[in-house]
Amino acid sequence: MAGFLEPPIKKQKSEDNNTAFNSNQSTSQNSTNGKVNGHTNNTPVNRNPPFCKFPSSPKFNNTFDPKPRHSDHLKALIKQRRALPIFPVRAKLLSELEKQDFVILIGETGSGKTTQIPQFLHEQRWDRKGAICITQPRRVAAITISKRVAEEMDTKLGGLVGYSVRFEEAVSQSTKLKFVTDGMLMREAIVDPLLSKYSWIILDEAHERTISTDVLFGIVKDAHKNRKANGKDPLKVIIMSATMDVDHFSNYFHKCPVLYVEGRQHPIDMFYAKEKQDDYVLTSMSTVFQIHKEAPPQHDILVFLTGQEEIDSVVHTIRQIAKDSSLSEYPRLRVHPLYAALPAHQQLEVFRATAEGERKVIVSTNIAETSITIPGIRYVVDSGRAKIRSYHPNSGFDMLKVRKISQAQAWQRAGRAGREAAGHCYRGFTREEFDALELNPVPEILRSNLASVILQLLAIGIKNVLTFDFIDKPSPEHVQEAIEQLTLLGAVTVQSETLELTETGKKMAQFPLEPRYAKVILSGPEYGCTDEVLSIIAALSSESVFVNPSGKREAAAIAKRKFISVEGDHITLLKIIRAFKAVKSNKMWCHENFLNFRNLTYALEVRKQLVQVCQRCGVNISSCQQNFDAVRRCLVAGLFTSVSELQLDGRYLTLAAKQEATIHPSSVLFGGKPAYVLFTELVHTGQTYMHVNTPVDAQWLYDVAPEYFRKRHIKINP
Ligand code: CDP
Ligand code: MG
Repeated sequence: MAGFLEPPIKKQKSEDNNTAFNSNQSTSQNSTNGKVNGHTNNTPVNRNPPFCKFPSSPKFNNTFDPKPRHSDHLKALIKQRRALPIFPVRAKLLSELEKQDFVILIGETGSGKTTQIPQFLHEQRWDRKGAICITQPRRVAAITISKRVAEEMDTKLGGLVGYSVRFEEAVSQSTKLKFVTDGMLMREAIVDPLLSKYSWIILDEAHERTISTDVLFGIVKDAHKNRKANGKDPLKVIIMSATMDVDHFSNYFHKCPVLYVEGRQHPIDMFYAKEKQDDYVLTSMSTVFQIHKEAPPQHDILVFLTGQEEIDSVVHTIRQIAKDSSLSEYPRLRVHPLYAALPAHQQLEVFRATAEGERKVIVSTNIAETSITIPGIRYVVDSGRAKIRSYHPNSGFDMLKVRKISQAQAWQRAGRAGREAAGHCYRGFTREEFDALELNPVPEILRSNLASVILQLLAIGIKNVLTFDFIDKPSPEHVQEAIEQLTLLGAVTVQSETLELTETGKKMAQFPLEPRYAKVILSGPEYGCTDEVLSIIAALSSESVFVNPSGKREAAAIAKRKFISVEGDHITLLKIIRAFKAVKSNKMWCHENFLNFRNLTYALEVRKQLVQVCQRCGVNISSCQQNFDAVRRCLVAGLFTSVSELQLDGRYLTLAAKQEATIHPSSVLFGGKPAYVLFTELVHTGQTYMHVNTPVDAQWLYDVAPEYFRKRHIKINP
């Protein structure tokens, strides 16, 4: 048992300024309300939320009334819309939006920002000239929210309401409300830097500070300025979030006003671990059962953990424990995983209401922290951890690492417990540990490899990346390293201090891939294996193609043997894709071979799209049949900076940073000791693992980047 303090620690709640879930208090809200109304507002905010003072204005259309022709379902949806916290402040919001070019809108998760604001704008016909584009940091949010909005507007998805995410879209000429991932909009800006298709850009979940969102901040500011200068229709921009550093954002966006929507949040009792816990996974699981034994049925539990593998294993363990006869007197447990890579139908399971005598336990990544709302949750168990991508300037790689979250995230997580009624949040760390957390998460741009970003910026025509108007500038050394990587890949040249995209670089920017993968594809014609590398990279873009059910590990391993190639994981993936194509995407075949049908289908879809980009760029698609050496050499052409060398003592060190790394047990190379291993990703979980690996020849390395490897003194095998 984790051993939690006795409830409740209510006193602490009211003393905290940053209790984000307590809707009626926040010092930062207090100070900025004055700005909204253009004068200093000395009214204590906790009594008078700013918007409730403004009656609905007849100036704005009201299409919220149900009509007799509406189906019961639609009537129910309209009723739900009317009950959202954003509804009463609609008129006030619209009048501000009409006046301002930039507005920051803050409101609790579930208050109706994402689904309602685009509809409000549409109802005013403010999308007559240009469409409304709403960005989301995550694919799943863009897709599910567009579905919901289409349903609320009683139209078919892909018509008036659509979405566009990497490798998948549902849009048409008539689409006016378009939900996109921030990466997609960044890509659109390459072709159209003025974003001329749109009248409104809504940058949602701005606090998540993904690289793409940060770059988009600069792009929309620029597009807004240039459209004004050219006498074009103004671009209107809304920046939305549940919590963020509003002063920082407002200053950046020309001191724009900040509007608040009062959320409906119920009180939450906070519990902290009595003492420091060694194992956050174990702590989280034992807490779930502690709650399970005390809470009434239908009071559901949301557990925040870090990544897919960990979550799948925890879900499995909880299900196993739940079968124990000693728990038979407690509510029946329904346990669900939730992470971005989960197929849509499984994600939807999470939203299904709990039946009588049942309890739902959802084990989720930080995906459930903000962008989605899950009904039924009364208990939150917070491990205080998240898996985040972080860049190691010394090694030159992005690594996925489990890290402690920030205080802002911890409050967001706690807030999930109080959406429908009073709730409880169990933190698997002590109060002292909480106090020591960073206040806000570090923006991704300050912790990632910038090569992709810089390539995109150059493609948009932003030449001096060092002076780009970033809300938080990456360090010059960081930028320098990314430029070096792009130079090595042949994407840019540096001429008298300015960066120029090469022809290869221009083509690389067309691919929705990291520059090094784009380079592999563009090297395909040289080795005569574009067909093969397209399959491999498509497979890498999807989640694992293998199914490894815990009860049938042996059978799965035997099935995998059929495809295993001594030439490494990449060729193994290639063989699987080929076989999947040969059986015409047969589901049964996947089942028999312990392969993931959905992920393979997705990989083929990705492949199709990459083929289209190749065709646009004039890349010849030829096949090398069984000449797998050609394929491996082609991989080296793009991934040569991701290679480790075997040492005399049997360890591997990366060539780039001399960092120790181990072949992951899931790799077909596990147990072997090739002299040079090309890896796809480094993942740090306890130790640093190389994932998806291929043995390569030292000579090949010299062939593609002689200068780079000469400096690293690699030994050519005789
Ligand atoms: O953006 P914000 O978090 O403020 O709220 P929203 O995403 O617009 O969602 C408002 C409400 O719509 C939620 O509280 C849910 O009740 C409902 N909703 C839903 O039922 N299904 C969805 N896919 C999205 C929203
Ligand atoms: Mg939202």
